[in-house]
Amino acid sequence: MARVVCPGSFDPVTNGHLDVIARAAALHDEVIVAVLINITKKSLFSTDERVEMLREVTKGLENVRVERFHGLLVNFCTANGINGIVKGLRAVSDFEYEMQMAQMNYRLAKIETLFVTTNPQYSFLSSSLVKEIATYGGDVEGLVPEPVLGRLRARLAEA
Ligand code: PNS
Repeated sequence: MARVVCPGSFDPVTNGHLDVIARAAALHDEVIVAVLINITKKSLFSTDERVEMLREVTKGLENVRVERFHGLLVNFCTANGINGIVKGLRAVSDFEYEMQMAQMNYRLAKIETLFVTTNPQYSFLSSSLVKEIATYGGDVEGLVPEPVLGRLRARLAEA
C-alpha cells in the first residue's frame, strides 16, 4: 500500500496546499497530512485549530487523514509506515531548500520525496502572504478554502 505524507505548518491551509493534497490523494492509497507542532515558531492558529481546519477542508477526500507531529519528519514516517513525502514546488526559489530537505530525509531514513508542481493559479501563494494581506485588510477570498476565510477574519478581528 502506498501511504504518503504531506507535511507542513499549514498556518493556515491555503488552496495551494489543498490542490497538492488532492493530487497526492489521486495518486496514492493513503495520504496523511502531518501538521508540524512547532513550539518555537509563533503561529496565528494553534496546532488544534490548524488540524481542525484541515480536517474540515479535506473531508471530501476519503483516503486523506490529518495528524500532528513533532520532531523529525522521517521518524513520523517510519513510525507510521509512510513510504514517501509529497511536497508542492511553486517556483525555482522553493527548489534549493526542498532539494536539501529531500536529500537529507533520504539520507536519514531512505524516505523518498515526490514533488508536485503547483497549479500555476497558486504559484504565488503562501500562508505567510495570506496572513500578511489579511492582517492589513486585503482580500484573500479565493486563496484559502471558505471555512478558513471565516476563521481568518474572526481571528484578525480579535486582534
Ligand atoms: O509548511 P512548512 O513550514 O514549509 O513545512 C516545513 C516542514 C514541516 C515540512 C519541515 O520544516 C519539516 O519537515 N520539519 C520537521 C523537522 C525535520 O524533519 N527537519 C529536518 C528536515 S531535513
